[in-house]
Amino acid sequence: MTLSGKRILLVIGGGIAAYKSLDLIRRLRERGAAVRCVMTAAAQQFVTQLSVGALSADHVFADLFDRQDEHDVGHIRLSREADLIVVAPATADLMAKLANGHANDLASTVLLATDKKVLMAPAMNPRMWAHPATRRNHATLVKDGVSFVGPTKGEMAESGEAGEGRMAEPLEIVAAIEAQFDSRPKPLAGRKIIVTSGPTHEPIDPVRYLANRSSGKQGHSLAAALAKLGAEVHLVSGPVAIADPAGVATVHVETARQMQAAVESLLPADAAVFVAAVADWRTAGSAEEKIKKVAGEGPPALQMVENPDILAGVGHHAKRPYLVVGFAAETQDILKNAAAKLSKKGADFIVANDVSQDSGIGPGGVMGGDRNRVRIVSKSGVEEWPELSKEAVAARLAELIAERLKTTVV
Ligand SMILES: Cc1cc2nc3c(=O)[nH]c(=O)nc-3n(C[C@H](O)[C@H](O)[C@H](O)COP(=O)(O)O)c2cc1C
Repeated sequence: MTLSGKRILLVIGGGIAAYKSLDLIRRLRERGAAVRCVMTAAAQQFVTQLSVGALSADHVFADLFDRQDEHDVGHIRLSREADLIVVAPATADLMAKLANGHANDLASTVLLATDKKVLMAPAMNPRMWAHPATRRNHATLVKDGVSFVGPTKGEMAESGEAGEGRMAEPLEIVAAIEAQFDSRPKPLAGRKIIVTSGPTHEPIDPVRYLANRSSGKQGHSLAAALAKLGAEVHLVSGPVAIADPAGVATVHVETARQMQAAVESLLPADAAVFVAAVADWRTAGSAEEKIKKVAGEGPPALQMVENPDILAGVGHHAKRPYLVVGFAAETQDILKNAAAKLSKKGADFIVANDVSQDSGIGPGGVMGGDRNRVRIVSKSGVEEWPELSKEAVAARLAELIAERLKTTVV
């Protein structure tokens, strides 16, 4: 019951993602929260007051000028009686209204009148999200102290549309809400940390690529764990099938060279942790057209060239972060390889994991699986950690990073 006793005012905007808000209400109540809902007129085109009222087990507020509601609760009380206001889906319109101080319906009036924190989960067509007006409104709202979760990338409800604009999934929104109430100490407050995660894809031609089995689970968990300790986390993610972590600024890349450019553009930082399984090689050139299979001719010879070493580049960079941490995925001579990597790459410590099939970690092994067993290799020796879930490894590693950064000045 992580949200026991918390009062959430959920503002539901008029987008197709409003159906996910029904599930959000359930997830919040499961965790002990009391959920009261405000619906815009547009929201009621997508889901009914009946469903929202039944799931929240409370009266649903929808009309600023409803005499009964205004007499019983009133829009000012409604905006103040909550511990947190969550807007999901936050439409482009609701963002524009709050960014510009409009208050011409119950939802926008409540948002303007509140003295409580506001968390928005935007959902809109990718072009609406990318429009300069929405970009400006988003920046204004961030400056005004509004928090955001998502949007994420993916397929849109409209057929044939994809991109950034999908509302975060209900459980991600729940995690962002829990983070708002997390009053534990934040030893990484004021620290900027770069994390890389996932595999890279190196194109062979427009349809084929070289990749590896990295899922991004360890890197994404670490980004989330660092954010929980208060860090400003910038995650540079290769192509993965998992959601962006809540409270983390995520940049999506495909190739090693794009990952390197993204990481370097984020410097300076207090720490950088390289969890991504970056391809060591790429093909010498990606074919412009799909390489055809020609009868009688054998398979094409792929000529490989070396990719940039992102960890070593940052480890020896003029703007080197105070703390540089690398991950070493090895299948043999794990400690020897990790120790060699430590000095060659200019890292402070290496998190070595055995990704061989017989690592004893299953199902799925380390790469792609949910568990990990790591050793922390530094100049002062090797620390063996027991087999843990990737989230637990992330939490422990985040504590270790916080400990190492403690002595530096913010
Ligand atoms: C089928 C349909 C889907 C829509 N989906 C969205 C959406 O996902 N995000 C958005 O910002 N607007 C969406 N709109 C437009 C909003 O409903 C419209 O801007 C409305 O005025 C928003 O009102 P509200 O912000 O008061 O809820 C959609 C409209 C239609 C007809």
